[in-house]
Amino acid sequence: MKYTVVLTADYPSIARDILAGEFDVIAHPTEQARSEEEMMTLLAEADAAITLLSDPLTRRVLSSNPNLRMVANYAVGYNNIDVDAARELRITITNTPGVLTEATADLTIALILAVTRRLIEGDHEVRRTGECIWEPLHLLGTGLQGKRLGIIGMGRIGQAVAQRAKAFGIDVIGVRRGESFDELLATSDIVSIHAPLSRETHHLIDAAALAKMKPGAYLVNTSRGPLVDEAALCDALDSGHLRGAALDVYEHEPEVSQRLLTMTNVVLAPHIGSATEEARTAMALIAAIDVRRFLRGEVPLHVVV
Ligand code: DGY
Repeated sequence: MKYTVVLTADYPSIARDILAGEFDVIAHPTEQARSEEEMMTLLAEADAAITLLSDPLTRRVLSSNPNLRMVANYAVGYNNIDVDAARELRITITNTPGVLTEATADLTIALILAVTRRLIEGDHEVRRTGECIWEPLHLLGTGLQGKRLGIIGMGRIGQAVAQRAKAFGIDVIGVRRGESFDELLATSDIVSIHAPLSRETHHLIDAAALAKMKPGAYLVNTSRGPLVDEAALCDALDSGHLRGAALDVYEHEPEVSQRLLTMTNVVLAPHIGSATEEARTAMALIAAIDVRRFLRGEVPLHVVV
């Protein structure tokens, strides 16, 4: 009897290439914001699955199919999965660390440059007016040389961002999990978040933390949206306490707050930190190889539960 692997999205074709033949593969088109019911239907025949970071793998979903033994989450973050339930139900969970570090760090730098140099505002202006106007005081931004970047979360991605920032002459200060970041908030011109989402980090940057930030500073988030209280961030931007923000992730994905959409001093990217052909292909490779190892009775290489 062949095992069945469910792919909950259009992953790079290498995933199917690795799994088809040896296993029955059922692939579903990519869909964001699935409900628990939809997930249960999708996974009904699965022995193993490759899942999206937006797929809700709650206790209810995980326990709905007793044959489901393994889930390879197509992301490094796995806050969409109830890991306690997975552990109790003896369902193995894997993720895709390492291969999206450089892509996410590159995007973080792109966001820092875009928001401090008002690149999106300039792009909109050129398209709107059909002209390129040079004036001494036009669209002035902030130079990076000698400024301080505060990195919250000095894991793989945080360190890769620090390495790149140093090439711009930026002074970097970083904190690791559990360390106080009051000094970082008070002294950084740019604060960039690179921590996983958990109960402890939900609203890590709330109104109180934003108030501690240096007046005129920028906030950048390429980790997970709920680490930032989005309403409080909008207040801090509205009041002028923060000069700008650049976001790749949102508190209520896929929705983006209406207030953010109207602000010109924010750069809004659609969760594309890992969106390079290289990174997304490597993520598919890792996920599929781990599924294959598991179903062959071998230990997967990237087990989180
Ligand atoms: C991840 O892997 O957690 C990223 O958010 C995907 O881009």
